[in-house]
Amino acid sequence: MEFSPYRKVTQMTSAKIDLNGKTLDLPVITGSEGEKALDITHLRKETGYITYDPGYVNTGSCSSDITFIDGEKGILRYRGIPIEELAVSASFLDVCYLLIYGRLPSETEVGEFAEQVTHHTMIHEDFKRFFDGYPMNAHPMGVLASTVAALSTFYPQGGNNDLDLNILRLLAKMKTLAAFAYKKSTGQPFMYPRNDLNFEENFLYMMFAVPAESYEPNKAIVDSLRLLLILHADHEQNCSTSTVRMVGSSGANLFISIAAGIAALSGRLHGGANQKVIEMLEMIQGDNGDYEKYVKMAKDRKSDFRLFGFGHRVYKNFDPRAKILKASADKVLNELGIDDPLLEIAKELEEIALKDEFFLERNLYPNVDFYSGIIYRALGIPTSMFTVMFALGRLPGWIAQWKELREDSKWRIYRPRQIYTGRTPDDLKDGV
Ligand code: CMC
Repeated sequence: MEFSPYRKVTQMTSAKIDLNGKTLDLPVITGSEGEKALDITHLRKETGYITYDPGYVNTGSCSSDITFIDGEKGILRYRGIPIEELAVSASFLDVCYLLIYGRLPSETEVGEFAEQVTHHTMIHEDFKRFFDGYPMNAHPMGVLASTVAALSTFYPQGGNNDLDLNILRLLAKMKTLAAFAYKKSTGQPFMYPRNDLNFEENFLYMMFAVPAESYEPNKAIVDSLRLLLILHADHEQNCSTSTVRMVGSSGANLFISIAAGIAALSGRLHGGANQKVIEMLEMIQGDNGDYEKYVKMAKDRKSDFRLFGFGHRVYKNFDPRAKILKASADKVLNELGIDDPLLEIAKELEEIALKDEFFLERNLYPNVDFYSGIIYRALGIPTSMFTVMFALGRLPGWIAQWKELREDSKWRIYRPRQIYTGRTPDDLKDGV
């Protein structure tokens, strides 16, 4: 890979570490926003020690030019551009191009890109038979992960020659697969994509149109969908993105690696939280608005219940995406003439939690999942599809991160170490 002109990792200083009487100089590397890290690449070779960091709380797994987050200040930027700016002025395909190719496209470039993405929207007719095999009540995330993995059997990737084409295919086809997964769950006929519609309209058409009726996408719904997709588009080395890089690091192809990312996203602590938030708000509603009960349960160390949509590994201040979505929820519901009592419940719950010592002490603020579900509901998206919507938004980020890894001249297979704590042969002798 060309060494990126933006990659400003510098090695100016070093830190000394004393281990068993041996002193080692660890290089300090500094990123372009001033973030610092100790480079421990040679630690084991020189000292026999590894670092121990369960959950990778304090581990930088790579250097990356794609996304910058300052969790203390609540900053999120894609390729240097603040999320607030993109939220107002960019199209989702602009953001896809920006993340994957490193800069915003010109008008001609985005036109060609959109044409390509539209052209590849259909899926092979044989592929439709996959959907026959799933039970009616299959969760759409399971269907999405397995059908995206199955794309690799239709488009095997030899070397990286056809990578650009496979990127276009994936961007185009994943929304068709997502909409088909939904149609399968309702028993309605699949709707083929319409090439006269833009990205968001086409997805809504495949989700909500039925052959017997005409369908015109609503402008407010299309714009909200654009915003939601952009806000989810990348978030540096989160669980699913690290999974995509991990799988990709073995040499696995793009589709399979992204399918693994979808699987990681489905969990309730990650993307699956958006579905859990709505289920939680509905429980509170069913409990006559007894917020205290749920806040108490979330604080109870013996219960595994959490306030879904609260807390973040990186943000120790407001999640900037949640701020945008909170404001947007009011606007969208107004525009669509919807009065959703869950929005009021969410606002009150937020207010109560943000006054509570437990949440204050731990810096637990609403994250992107807290208000997104309320907007998805207003757009008519069923709860079981919320995490699929997250995956559609995150797709360009996964692709960009996978591509960056594979184009890095220093790319190596991801392979963490461990501290073994199991039985030893001596224990076995002692009958332990
Ligand atoms: N409700 C109650 N307590 C919480 C919550 C919560 N939502 N989040 C964190 N805590 C507590 C946690 O119990 C721990 O307390 P203590 O120090 O007493 O043991 C402390 O706060 C630190 O939490 P942690 O689990 O060590 O933090 P983490 O960085 O490992 O986990 C998290 C981050 C997002 C998984 C977690 O905050 C959480 O489970 N939140 C709820 C699920 C959620 O909303 N996930 C979506 C994340 S944003 C979208 C995405 O990128 O996936």
